[in-house]
Amino acid sequence: MSLIDTSFVKSVLNHEAPWSESHDSTGEFLGLGMLYYSLAYSLRARVAICLGSGGGFVPRVLRQAQRDLAIPGSTTILVDANLPEAGWGAPQWLEPSSFFRVRYPEVRIIQQRTDDAIRELRSTAVRAELIHIDADHSYEQVRRDFENYSELLAVGGVISLHDTGPDRVRDIPGMGVPRLIREIRRSGRWDVLEFSEIAAGTAVVRRRPQRTTGLWTRVKHRFRGH
Ligand SMILES: C[S@@+](CC[C@H](N)C(=O)[O-])C[C@H]1O[C@@H](n2cnc3c(N)ncnc32)[C@H](O)[C@@H]1O
Repeated sequence: MSLIDTSFVKSVLNHEAPWSESHDSTGEFLGLGMLYYSLAYSLRARVAICLGSGGGFVPRVLRQAQRDLAIPGSTTILVDANLPEAGWGAPQWLEPSSFFRVRYPEVRIIQQRTDDAIRELRSTAVRAELIHIDADHSYEQVRRDFENYSELLAVGGVISLHDTGPDRVRDIPGMGVPRLIREIRRSGRWDVLEFSEIAAGTAVVRRRPQRTTGLWTRVKHRFRGH
């Protein structure tokens, strides 16, 4: 017995999933898909949001974790405006008969720009345990996506950001994700874990708990006459 069904990985998760190789996932190997899966699984994500996906690879992995756990009322939301002009071509799942749409029909697709979808999502007060950012990679837009969507993060939730690797900066003009990661790190408000050497690279960030003065510290200070 194996924990991973490699034939399922090959025939479902990696099937007709262009861009999956940029997550180091091809054939029977799940690559960073395993990381996204394990985050959604271990956080018992009731809501997962994916911004941008050319082939539906990340949304299907996130949804699969929710299916496997049978989390009642759980949902995966994909926000993608079909913007080939952003430099990544058109999504491959536009046809309702596409493999992703047929196999994962319950993934909710919001076909809007991330700047527009955030308004609707804000108004519903939805909170997501997992948010994956992979839409427009220009510095200004990815920073705006991070700022806007981090408002929707559930307590203890995480954000993953794709395309953090140094090759991406070299090969893709205007690539702003690595700069954003440096700034997030410098802010001191997030813990950052980077896997930049795996395919196109992914970072996982998590809000640091706010520092509050605990009761014990206040008592100590009082007795020391502070
Ligand atoms: C193809 S993905 C990038 C490739 C990616 N690294 C992957 O693994 O799939 C980018 C997607 O984001 C979408 N997109 C780009 N800018 C967007 C924006 N501002 N709002 C919503 N979707 C956007 C595009 O339509 C495209 O499908």
